Amino acid sequence: MIISNPLARVFMSVHIIHLAEQFAKEQLQHDSSGHDWWHCHRVRQMALRIAKKEGADEFVCELAALLHDVADEKLNTSKEAGIMKVRQWLETHVKDAHKLEHVLDIIATLSYNGGHHPPMKTLEGQIVQDADRLDALGAIGIARAFAYAGWKGHILYDPEAKPREVISAHEYRNEKGTAINHFYEKLLKLKDTMNTEWGKRIALQRHQVMEQYLAQFYQEWDSSVGNLED
Ligand code: ADP
Ligand code: NI
Repeated sequence: MIISNPLARVFMSVHIIHLAEQFAKEQLQHDSSGHDWWHCHRVRQMALRIAKKEGADEFVCELAALLHDVADEKLNTSKEAGIMKVRQWLETHVKDAHKLEHVLDIIATLSYNGGHHPPMKTLEGQIVQDADRLDALGAIGIARAFAYAGWKGHILYDPEAKPREVISAHEYRNEKGTAINHFYEKLLKLKDTMNTEWGKRIALQRHQVMEQYLAQFYQEWDSSVGNLED
């Protein structure tokens, strides 16, 4: 069903966004893997910023951003169960079937998945994916990578463990790695996968922050682990 009165449509959209915020908060409030409510909020704000620049459907971007990690396979019993949870919520609250399917399609396909997903189909999908990826970069991206590593039981760094070059979706998600190797296996690759011009520009700045951070990390590592006579 599509509401024809423009004012009623705006009111309805604001109401749905408010309910989606509550749902995301309730689902992700206890997350300590870097996919908590504030991650969704940052992704929402960034998606809206890019959507305004690109003239995209802001409602679709905002709703998909708010709910994108409620369906995350890491935080559900399976990818299908996560998608089903979001589908049920959308079917209860969103009456416009086209927008409902659009939001669900974005959520089902935006995940990095070890780099194995095909490109996003719509501008709105590209925008939400860029916003999610930007939150994996820079100072916040560094913080999230270490939070995730701790959550998974991975160590910070092991100079003898080399980053994996080619990695299947299963290995990406299930094999033990180190936080520092995650930079090489994913985070430093992200700047070349951005969809929008704005996303590319911010990704480059945040990429440089991570490179500086890694240089400092190795410097401190060497001065701690290096020869005592130095
Ligand atoms: P997406 O959210 O696109 O599905 P991921 O779930 O793979 O992507 O990663 C989301 C964030 O979780 C990453 O940006 C990173 O901060 C963290 N993360 C995922 N896997 C790892 C890992 N093996 N080591 C450290 N951080 C990770
Ligand atoms: Ni996310």
